[in-house]
Amino acid sequence: MQIIITKNYEELSKEAAKIVRTRILEKPNLVLGLATGSTPLGLYQALIKMHQQENLDFREARTFNLDEYVGLAPDHPQSYNYYMRENLFKHINIKKENVFIPKGIAENIEEFCQQYEYGIKKRGGIDLQILGIGRDGHIGFNEPGTSFTSRTHIVNLDSVTIEDNARFFNNESEVPRRAITMGIGTIMEAKECLMLVSGAYKTEIIARALQGQITEKVPASVLQKHPNLTVILDEEAANRLEV
Ligand code: GLP
Repeated sequence: MQIIITKNYEELSKEAAKIVRTRILEKPNLVLGLATGSTPLGLYQALIKMHQQENLDFREARTFNLDEYVGLAPDHPQSYNYYMRENLFKHINIKKENVFIPKGIAENIEEFCQQYEYGIKKRGGIDLQILGIGRDGHIGFNEPGTSFTSRTHIVNLDSVTIEDNARFFNNESEVPRRAITMGIGTIMEAKECLMLVSGAYKTEIIARALQGQITEKVPASVLQKHPNLTVILDEEAANRLEV
């Protein structure tokens, strides 16, 4: 595991963008796993800048998002589909047909989840997976207790997650209770993982995840077993890490 501690969020985002740029230059048709939430926003802004100023080329890149709320259509402003379009895709030259996001309004969710897994496999697996971490240690939307061997599936969200994500909605009651997420097994098969962690409120959970016991109670702790993991933290988030 490689740990990079940066002065602040801006530096964290720049460091992350440099890694993504290197991988795209090495492999233009990179299969990139993407995350949502507040943390990767700076990375996406930095990538947009690289596209505009240095012609960083996403034409051949393929992307798979980690998760999506059940019941939200792609044009719903709080859907992750909308988030991705607004915060990244519409500003770069990625092809629509190369973008994959779980379908929150799929008629048959189980069948959809299987197709999503197959879609990843068919493209050779995820080369680089971007990850954040929830305050309860979740990755994607894999809440505490999720099996380390899980594949893409439907989940019930924990109250901590609903509370944390309420800031994106008018109020807590509007936050969907269920989501589709890549499984922990799916995430662990990515050839490389890049986790971004920012802010004082992540201090405790990231220390437990990276330096505590590996347990399904802390989903992100599984990453200690990943052969190619880089974690970029700002100083605030790294406060309790022993380095
Ligand atoms: C959501 C997403 C996760 C993300 C987490 C942390 O629950 N499903 O993929 O890592 O939020 O979000 P933030 O970066 O806003 O703290």
